[in-house]
Amino acid sequence: MAVTAPQWDSLFAARTRADVGDGIAQVLAFLGLPGLISFAGGFPDPLTFPRDRAAALLQEFAAVGEVSAFHYAPTRGLAGPLDALAARIESLQDRRPDEDELLITSGAIEALELVGKTFLDRGDTVVVEAPTYLGAIMAFRGFESEIVAVPIDEAGLEVDELERRLAKGLRPKLLYTIPDHQNPGGVTLAAERRAVLVELARRHGFLIVEDVAYRELAFDDGASPPTLWSLAPDVVVQAGTTSKTFFPGLRLGWAVAPAQISQRLVSAKQNTDQCAGALGQRLLEEYVRRGWIEEQLAESRALYRRKCEATLAALARHMPEGAHGTTPRGGFFTWLTLPDGVDSTDLAARAAAQGVGVVPGTLFFADGRGNDSVRLSFSMVDESQIDEGVARLAALMR
Ligand SMILES: Cc1ncc(COP(=O)(O)O)c(C=O)c1O
Repeated sequence: MAVTAPQWDSLFAARTRADVGDGIAQVLAFLGLPGLISFAGGFPDPLTFPRDRAAALLQEFAAVGEVSAFHYAPTRGLAGPLDALAARIESLQDRRPDEDELLITSGAIEALELVGKTFLDRGDTVVVEAPTYLGAIMAFRGFESEIVAVPIDEAGLEVDELERRLAKGLRPKLLYTIPDHQNPGGVTLAAERRAVLVELARRHGFLIVEDVAYRELAFDDGASPPTLWSLAPDVVVQAGTTSKTFFPGLRLGWAVAPAQISQRLVSAKQNTDQCAGALGQRLLEEYVRRGWIEEQLAESRALYRRKCEATLAALARHMPEGAHGTTPRGGFFTWLTLPDGVDSTDLAARAAAQGVGVVPGTLFFADGRGNDSVRLSFSMVDESQIDEGVARLAALMR
């Protein structure tokens, strides 16, 4: 008797039909291409990875017979790492999260997933920036929410425009923003807009999801505007990551939220991964307590600053009229607007054939816009190849 193959499609859960796409997998695939001059992934430069110190810490844990690093951890996180992280947040943001406000996650992406799981029903509205981080669009779409995009300009989210839309009846549950050195725009939210934004959240009763993935990577030591969470811990959940400041192989981040929300995030985490990896938590704790993270950060910021300057100089040198990039003050990205008539998807494909990786702008919009732009990430490209990569890209626009 012939057995027909099961029709898996008919068994997949309805929520998977929201089709989150495979954008992240596409970007990660660039990592594996040998010889590519890649401005594609928003990845830290492996030069910054603290190999020797990580190895020494591991040896130390083994030598002293430490148990906690090798065991399961409490769902919220191990006490020591939570304390070290809370102290660090206090030193950077002038406010210490209470014990029932802070949670250690498996990367910032898990924090976003936990927020989605906790708040979103089918059809709920989430406001995002246009453009925004692809992983967030995918995470929120996975809960069948309606994504509404509000534009950004050189000073970050256009809060005036958000206010107009709220006045016309927009009713979001969540607003997701990356205020510092935004991915993919490279822009930073102005201090005045931060104050207005948190007031809007209070007035209209939505939760701000603040992603601080690149905040610690400012190129200069000047004061950054205050975080949204430090301004308004009553209406903000902050998601952070150690991927850009320590190393992403750890998959470690955090979420700070009002206690009532934080408790729900902990509940949601019980049936994702139960707890973030204890080994990574202990490495992070020691790395922070010994001041090593500050040393790594000083080097990372100088490295990314040089790369950014080289990228902007190459753009000025090679790009045809009509192409212009944003001027980041930190982070990994500049957002390049293309000359009229240049299609970003086509450009990215032709660039890949010429050995240059860029990500077409469309991946950063929830609604297919963005075909007039590409994201250039200068973080991982070899410094000596920046000029050549930009020159090749520019040649393809002529
Ligand atoms: C804005 C933003 N948030 C979150 C993440 C993901 O962080 P993690 O590696 O901690 O999941 C990224 C990584 O590219 C990012 O750009």
